[in-house]
Amino acid sequence: MEKLVSNWSTNVGAVPEDYIYPPETRPGNKHVPIGESIPVIDLSQVDKGDRTLTIQKIINASQEFGFFQVINHGIPDNVMKEAMSTWKEFFESPPEAKKDLYADRFTTKDCWLFPSSLNYGREKVHMWRDALKHSCHPLQKWHHMWPQTPPRYQECVGACSVEIKKLGSKILRLTSEGLGLHGEFLDQYSQTMALSANYYPACPQPELTLGVTKHADPCIITLLLQDGVSGLQVLKDDTWIGVDPNPHAIVVNIASQLQVLCNDKLKSAEHRAVTNSRKARISASFFIGAFGESIIEPAKALVDEHCPPIYKSFKSKEFLLKFYETYGDSQATLEFFKA
Ligand code: OGA
Ligand code: NI
Repeated sequence: MEKLVSNWSTNVGAVPEDYIYPPETRPGNKHVPIGESIPVIDLSQVDKGDRTLTIQKIINASQEFGFFQVINHGIPDNVMKEAMSTWKEFFESPPEAKKDLYADRFTTKDCWLFPSSLNYGREKVHMWRDALKHSCHPLQKWHHMWPQTPPRYQECVGACSVEIKKLGSKILRLTSEGLGLHGEFLDQYSQTMALSANYYPACPQPELTLGVTKHADPCIITLLLQDGVSGLQVLKDDTWIGVDPNPHAIVVNIASQLQVLCNDKLKSAEHRAVTNSRKARISASFFIGAFGESIIEPAKALVDEHCPPIYKSFKSKEFLLKFYETYGDSQATLEFFKA
């Protein structure tokens, strides 16, 4: 457990050498403004306002940024707040309460607490975060494997997971509609959902390290909750844009396998998380994806002789494996599966 950043970070005045990224990838001192350009979409408009316009906003945001936030999404504020406070309590609980879940090398544990990334033992530089990963859907299959501490973990995170999964399916149905596919087309690839709850302790030299290195998520779509602390940044045209840390909104991002399904009509966006010297930050990423054996390929309805398939067919699990083999290099992974 001594490798958890939260275990030692309060005792150091400088970032240890194996957490310092090379100058080309470290954040440096360049100010990254919070981008007002990342679209904020009012989802209540789907039922109560202009449905077609709202779908168009989702499609435009997914083409331009691969990222947007949704507000008035229907998930009660207290459900999100309770889940966030549960993760905070989990990460801040004494080592004794967490030790059975901990591993710093690859494991098949269903509920896994680890420092940095799934690749701690093989990576050159470590990320300034601790993370807890577990499956969430279907709830009955997984929730008994979740942390026992705090005691309300299963109840609060369970309630939040169910809501997030419903919202994810709704966004996939709207996206299908916007692309002219049949309504359930994309949602049929949402059989699984895994959580990564991320804890980024305050860092004495945020310019030298990263909470999460640049990547696009390898699943279908990701929904992310943040506390009020900034840190998430999106890459657009070689420029980093900060995402407004609105604890009431949900960040949505198009992931790589969705980019494949829609034959590049939407793009998965590369993003990263930076740290800060003042305050620990917590976020929760819900990765929605297909079963490992599912075949992923460009939708037949989106390809023809003028617009041939850009990618081969593959099993969803082959894509994930390639992503981990390349240490999370999303570009290389997409490239590998090109037709
Ligand atoms: C992730 C991720 C960003 C954040 O978990 O895949 O990109 O803000 N997290 O925590
Ligand atoms: Ni991500």
